[in-house]
Amino acid sequence: MDFPIPLHSPILLAPMAGYTDSPFRRIARLFGAGMVFTELLSADGIVRQNKKTLDLLTITPHERPIGIQIFGNDPIIMQEAACRLLSHNPDCIDINCGCCAPKVCNSGKGAGLLKDVELLHRIASAVVRSVSIPVSAKIRLGFTTGTQNYMEVVDALQQAGVAFITVHGRTRDQYYSGKADWDKIAAIVQRAKVPIVGNGDIASYMDALNKLQTSGCSAVMIGRAALGNPWIFSGTTPTIKEKQTIIKLHYTHMHEQYGPYGIILMRKHIVHYLKGFTGASKLRQEIIKCETIEEIFGILDILCDKKA
Ligand SMILES: Cc1cc2nc3c(=O)[nH]c(=O)nc-3n(C[C@H](O)[C@H](O)[C@H](O)COP(=O)(O)O)c2cc1C
Repeated sequence: MDFPIPLHSPILLAPMAGYTDSPFRRIARLFGAGMVFTELLSADGIVRQNKKTLDLLTITPHERPIGIQIFGNDPIIMQEAACRLLSHNPDCIDINCGCCAPKVCNSGKGAGLLKDVELLHRIASAVVRSVSIPVSAKIRLGFTTGTQNYMEVVDALQQAGVAFITVHGRTRDQYYSGKADWDKIAAIVQRAKVPIVGNGDIASYMDALNKLQTSGCSAVMIGRAALGNPWIFSGTTPTIKEKQTIIKLHYTHMHEQYGPYGIILMRKHIVHYLKGFTGASKLRQEIIKCETIEEIFGILDILCDKKA
């Protein structure tokens, strides 16, 4: 099925709060991620012009195509947030119906919307009506294992006019435990009238191609396995030198965007990049102590020259 947005590749970067900011999205696109998404942004925060929310809206041309993801439970606020986001020129607005965090779900937002399909339909319809760009939704299979209403949810979203649906093959009560159910994703593809993006547990480039083929999805989305491993989008294995170059590039983007605080924010990425390095934990501790980007680059140079 034709995807509503021209994609560079059918392997997309999943939204991940605290990780998929502009610097990481640029790195993922560099390695060929077909499309990227912002982390979930509060529709209330957008409408009220909350500074923290607006800061998450830094987008550079190198990231496109990009979807901006919003969450909320009020059709009017979701609609207004979507309209305001148009000034950032996103390629689509994605409605979060999958976030499992209690503070989001307990107020009926994120995956909480799966419990009220009628409200979900009203929200999606309101957003679709208010913008002229594609609107998508990202769902889980259901709120609990016993209430897997994904077909009903997909029907409601389609009827509301969404352009594509991403399915994370777990229920909300699973959080990230167990295994994503790709048979159910394939069953959704069979019935859906809009393109489906499959998501959950993709571990490598080959795994992505395999899941694309066996599920019949129009695209697949990778989250956790892309952390510290943007090469997953190109199917290549980096040499130490290449890793060094990309870690430095990532640091540079972080420093440009956040100033010295970018070095602190980068800590959670460096943990992933260093996985598999001999002496990773000692190295991590050394890097974490550094206050300047030059000190960090110095450590990386010594390490990589030793290994090269
Ligand atoms: C740290 C973290 C943050 C996440 N934040 C979001 C988010 O903001 N919006 C969203 O729709 N999903 C979010 N997710 C879920 C991922 O997009 C994805 O659905 C999930 O991780 C399963 O894919 P994976 O097995 O490839 O990681 C997050 C996941 C993680 C691990």
